[in-house]
Amino acid sequence: MLKGQLPTAVSDITSRLVSFPGPSGLQVVGYIDEGAEDVWNERVVILAPRYGETKKNNLQLAYELVANGFKVLRFDQTNHIGESDGAMHAFTLSGATEDILAVVDYVDRFYEPSEVVLITLSLSSRCGFRACAQDSRISRFVSLVGMLDMDRTLRAIYNRDFFGELKAGATWSRVDILGFEIEGDKFYQSLVDSDMLNLSGTLIDSAQVSAPVLHLCAERDLWVEREDVDQVMSCCCNGRVVSIPSVGHELNENPESLKFAIQEVMAFCAEGLAGNSDALCVPDMKVLLRQNRLERSKLQASMDFSESESEFWGEYLGKFGIIEDAKYYVEYFDKMSALLGAIQPSDVLLDAGCGNGFYGISIIRALIRDSSVRGSLPQPIHYCAMDLTSHGLTRSYSRHTESLVEFQRQQLCDSGAVGFSYRKVDFDAVGGELGAALPFTDGSISKICCSLVLSYLKEPLNLMQEFYRVLKPGGVAVVSSMKPGCDMTVLYHDYVTQDVGGEGEQDASILLSAAGRIKLKKDTGVYQFFDVEELEHLAAQVGFMETRSCRSFGHQANVIRIVK
Ligand SMILES: C[S@@+](CC[C@H](N)C(=O)[O-])C[C@H]1O[C@@H](n2cnc3c(N)ncnc32)[C@H](O)[C@@H]1O
Repeated sequence: MLKGQLPTAVSDITSRLVSFPGPSGLQVVGYIDEGAEDVWNERVVILAPRYGETKKNNLQLAYELVANGFKVLRFDQTNHIGESDGAMHAFTLSGATEDILAVVDYVDRFYEPSEVVLITLSLSSRCGFRACAQDSRISRFVSLVGMLDMDRTLRAIYNRDFFGELKAGATWSRVDILGFEIEGDKFYQSLVDSDMLNLSGTLIDSAQVSAPVLHLCAERDLWVEREDVDQVMSCCCNGRVVSIPSVGHELNENPESLKFAIQEVMAFCAEGLAGNSDALCVPDMKVLLRQNRLERSKLQASMDFSESESEFWGEYLGKFGIIEDAKYYVEYFDKMSALLGAIQPSDVLLDAGCGNGFYGISIIRALIRDSSVRGSLPQPIHYCAMDLTSHGLTRSYSRHTESLVEFQRQQLCDSGAVGFSYRKVDFDAVGGELGAALPFTDGSISKICCSLVLSYLKEPLNLMQEFYRVLKPGGVAVVSSMKPGCDMTVLYHDYVTQDVGGEGEQDASILLSAAGRIKLKKDTGVYQFFDVEELEHLAAQVGFMETRSCRSFGHQANVIRIVK
């Protein structure tokens, strides 16, 4: 493509639901994405979902491929989430491999393509190597941030030897792997029986793959060892490794890295095609977004999020406190406090969605610091914590009390000038035409901290509007959201790699499970992570003018500071 030339947007793309028999008679459900018949380049690309995701997560890549002449079949695995048959707890890697082989059969039978290209992501790459070793109809294989050693990866993520424990006789009817309960014993036994437990099996498979293989590895991947990748690829007779710069295992985290990866994939898929040029076409955004909306509402309707939000956050916060000393949290709360600015006499501070009360703790620390510098008692201030769950409020209260007592001890006084209060409020019932008001009069609050809360509300704009009402003129709010495509596992890496042992290990796995559930709710549109422009737009809609933004939290969260 010439410099400065815009890519052509293709709007003639359709998606058609198909289903066909997979392993053990289970139906596999997928979408055929295709453009006009006369632009088809005779190649079909199969997109296998990664663990814990559905065909919807592959929609963008599929449409990019279709815009450039390919037909795509993206499907849901059986015994997994999504529309295919079977229940997630029965998931195995050998079952997921059989799904791929069933899809190859289907594609071969109905389209008789000149080439079948397989693209797998993360854990499904392990199945991809097995499928390619068994079925030579797969003529090209892309392993995107492929996990090649199940045992090593799980140990890296959880800092726990799951399989060693099972080998030593532990029994797990159910085990939570990244937010999904699966039958641990059966999963393990199937890995052993199919030789998919560790790297040695992958090396054997890769030696049998005759198709060209492109392995794209992420430069900052915490979960896949580069030496494993190099070993596996050196066994392939026609393998190539490309490193994707400036990103970890979650490619969506960095749009530039994702773009780079898509271009590499596209070029590899198109190798050998007559008239192949590097003039990339793109799908028309309207067409892509329409299909995305359709699939999101279908997925939402099919998921069972039976626990209430209050139960969900209660359980989450119960485990969340343990990592408050992790590097990224400390940095993040320092930044939030710095953006809100030094506490002034008579400040009234609102911690909206206080969780375990981290912001309150940072206020008390600042007071201790200030008074030791100035040697005087603080001026009266008031901090008000609000949250949906009594769980979080109780934890906040007990932690704050401890710190406040310490503060008073240092001051040798009963510093009644510092008031802390707690209130249970459901922000989903606040603001808008029918909602209640926040329990403050207009212009009565000096500072608002709203850390990682808006994403979980049905109408975040309503709360933002209330913030504007209750803030004093010149008052400041700092509001944050995880960034779209963030990699939440990065945040826990710091914690799980500390040698915490015992209960700490269990807590880490519960945290990772909660992160998996948050991701699923985000993928289905129940939650929404905002980019900076979206946060700024929410703020501007209710009247905030002065806005500053930054990244924090291990680069995974967007933060804006707004002034009334
Ligand atoms: C990810 S936590 C963030 C907690 C805290 N602000 C922090 O940054 O550590 C999300 C918080 O939002 C709260 N929350 C979620 N939905 C809410 C709602 N509808 N009303 C009030 N709080 C809510 C949860 O209870 C939880 O404490």
